[in-house]
Amino acid sequence: MTQTADSRIYLDHAATTPLDPAVFEVMRPYLWFEAGNPSSVHAAGRRAREAVDTAREQVAGVLGCKHGEVIFTSGGTEADNLAVIGMALAATGRGRHIVTTAIEHHAVLLAARSLRSRDFEVTELAVDPAGRVNPDELETAVRPDTTLVSIGLANNEIGTIQDLPTLARIAHQAGARVHTDAVQAAGQLDINVDRLDVDLLSLSAHKLYGPKGVGTLYVRAGVNLERRAFGGAQERDRRAGTENVPGIVGLGEAVARAEAEREQRTAHMRSLSASLVERVTAGCSKLRVTGDPQRRLPAFAPFAFADIDAESLLIRLDLEGIAVSTGAACTSGSLEPSHVIEALGLPERFRRGSLRCTVGRGTTLDEVMRAGEAIVRQVRTLRAISASSGAV
Ligand SMILES: Cc1ncc(COP(=O)(O)O)c(C=O)c1O
Repeated sequence: MTQTADSRIYLDHAATTPLDPAVFEVMRPYLWFEAGNPSSVHAAGRRAREAVDTAREQVAGVLGCKHGEVIFTSGGTEADNLAVIGMALAATGRGRHIVTTAIEHHAVLLAARSLRSRDFEVTELAVDPAGRVNPDELETAVRPDTTLVSIGLANNEIGTIQDLPTLARIAHQAGARVHTDAVQAAGQLDINVDRLDVDLLSLSAHKLYGPKGVGTLYVRAGVNLERRAFGGAQERDRRAGTENVPGIVGLGEAVARAEAEREQRTAHMRSLSASLVERVTAGCSKLRVTGDPQRRLPAFAPFAFADIDAESLLIRLDLEGIAVSTGAACTSGSLEPSHVIEALGLPERFRRGSLRCTVGRGTTLDEVMRAGEAIVRQVRTLRAISASSGAV
């Protein structure tokens, strides 16, 4: 069963995952008595430095990179901001054009858009109805002054996986560097930076059963970034500030465990998300399963229901003890369809009915069957209410 504080059915693992107790055990000494600062030269400081170095080796081992290419950050958002803004500002000698996509997480998209006020041009590539970027469109978009192409490895609302090696080859042929946000993909896909052919890659621990508030930016040797934070010379002078030692220790352990158990975890998640999709599609009419049916993250069961307000559906499910999401957690306060759903070009009547269910390593078949049954029942109830009020 999914371990949450109130033992509800938790199907929102793309928003965050519960801390793995084994990861917590590795972090415990650094939350408590191992309180040294890694910059201190005394024994306690050296032990903290050693712990940070071990985590760096763990992350580098999974990414297949050198340990000096790993920068620890406060999470996926900071890693994305540092990649996009830091890279763009450091490369102005070559050009001021960057390319990204219309479905990036806001940590990338808004960072890129912020550069427009500094005389950068930003191209946001459209996607097809399954959320895929067309390599031909990237080929057309890149120019001699394109310095960075930032495309997420897998989308956080619909789970669509991009063909990163193909897209990266096109970007590199044009002389641009490639950043990928692998925050959702990590733990479910291979994130070896050479096989993906990327120069920068972002990760976040809390999507991998690690702690919140810590992440990583991989930066290929030779890639320059303009600093975003001023202060100490931590992280090889690329990210100032005392390291979050317990968080970093937890991140290293979580990333290593996620990779070691990746096949087993993804087989479990793939089978459960498929059962959920089957149950819901069998019981509901007028729905789309969003994302790419062939290339979707194993954890994802994303739906769009016609003539349904997903916020009402989410609230009804929550009252039944089932946690899901209507889209990105960061935008779920808003009643507008998310930028991702807009970009898919779904027919108008599906746009407000997007529901994201994401299973995890602790989810059970019984939980997804109960959740599927509840989704079907609540969708029918909401439609019956609208029909009787004459809304549909
Ligand atoms: C694809 C993607 N990128 C970036 C982030 C931000 O990561 P963090 O919550 O660690 O700042 C998220 C979190 O939702 C995400 O899904």
